[in-house]
Amino acid sequence: MTQIENDRYLRALLRQPVDRTPVWLMRQAGRYLPEYRQLRAEVGDFMTLCQSPELACEVTLQPLRRFELDAAILFSDILTIPDAMGLGLSFGAGEGPRFAKVIQHQRDVDTLPIPDPESELRYVMDAVRTIKKELKQKVPLIGFSGSPWTLATYMVEGGSSKQFSRIKQMLYREPQLLHGLLAKLAESVIQYLNAQIAAGADAVMIFDTWGGVLSHDDYQTFSLQYMTQIVQGIQRQHEGRTIPITLFTKGGGQWLDAIAASGCDAIGLDWTTNISMARQQVGNRVALQGNMDPAVLLGDDALVTHKVQQILQAYGHGSGHVFNLGHGITPDIEPERVKTFVDAVHHFSAPYHQ
Ligand code: CP3
Repeated sequence: MTQIENDRYLRALLRQPVDRTPVWLMRQAGRYLPEYRQLRAEVGDFMTLCQSPELACEVTLQPLRRFELDAAILFSDILTIPDAMGLGLSFGAGEGPRFAKVIQHQRDVDTLPIPDPESELRYVMDAVRTIKKELKQKVPLIGFSGSPWTLATYMVEGGSSKQFSRIKQMLYREPQLLHGLLAKLAESVIQYLNAQIAAGADAVMIFDTWGGVLSHDDYQTFSLQYMTQIVQGIQRQHEGRTIPITLFTKGGGQWLDAIAASGCDAIGLDWTTNISMARQQVGNRVALQGNMDPAVLLGDDALVTHKVQQILQAYGHGSGHVFNLGHGITPDIEPERVKTFVDAVHHFSAPYHQ
């Protein structure tokens, strides 16, 4: 095992002392960067970027060349699993994801295969191995997956959704059908994340982007229950290091106790949660990631710096905080604001670790 040079991110997730608060951004590689847009235009298609390990590696490293980020995140997508299950993923220009096949009936679930990560999703594992090599142990690499519930919303709706009518109809009319789908997805995610860890991912994160559209009781039954199964199924030790797991439920601020009880190491917070109150609530059980409103980056440098200071102060002294946005960075952000953001976190966080 070789040591990672800058391991602040991993240490903060495990609530070990750090010199500064680590920072990375959800969706840190992507369309707000001109170099990404250029490569994407040359290649023509988002999935081609994901499926070529060299290109996925290049895009992963682009934000790290510009900003002093404390972690890299694998360039890929959460929808690789349903694609590998045979649903036929495509991204139309300006349209978001679309599936050629949707899940409607019991036989659709029964015939759904659990993809073998080293064959059907080999391009993801090859990307992890390529990125790990190129990172030269400078910063950790985050692997990721969607939550079963969030993946199921795309598989049942056929793409992005506003109302979630089809999947909610399934939930209320045929809950056992939905449970069958979620169980298969949980098993697929466990195998997928364990393969990413074996390939070199130093930490993993589960994006439950749509957990917050569920009612209080349904969140536990249809989302958190399956994320808990995943936490229990993940290989937590690899080559002498602990692999921390972060669960991010957008809109999940009211369920922190339940999420902490899943056994995860950290909870991702969106910007609607008060991080000071969240810390009081979770105590020493888990670390917290977040949670600046991504739209703050539409303001000027003074605003960005001010909001960073507010969040650092709200979290307070000591380790256990990974700075991030409360959701992904949007394509309309100026890269200069991101530099201000990252540098402000490092600069103003030092006193909180003395
Ligand atoms: O964070 C990173 O930099 C790593 C890469 C990453 C992408 N998607 C790249 C991407 C990650 C972690 C994701 C996760 C993802 N994908 C989520 C969960 C996180 C979240 O934001 O809530 C979801 C819901 C998806 C599904 C998805 N992928 C949608 C809805 C879209 C279209 C909308 C959009 O933002 O374009 C994508 C496409 C996608 N995934 C792009 C990127 C860079 C844009 C592709 C392009 O046109 O270049």
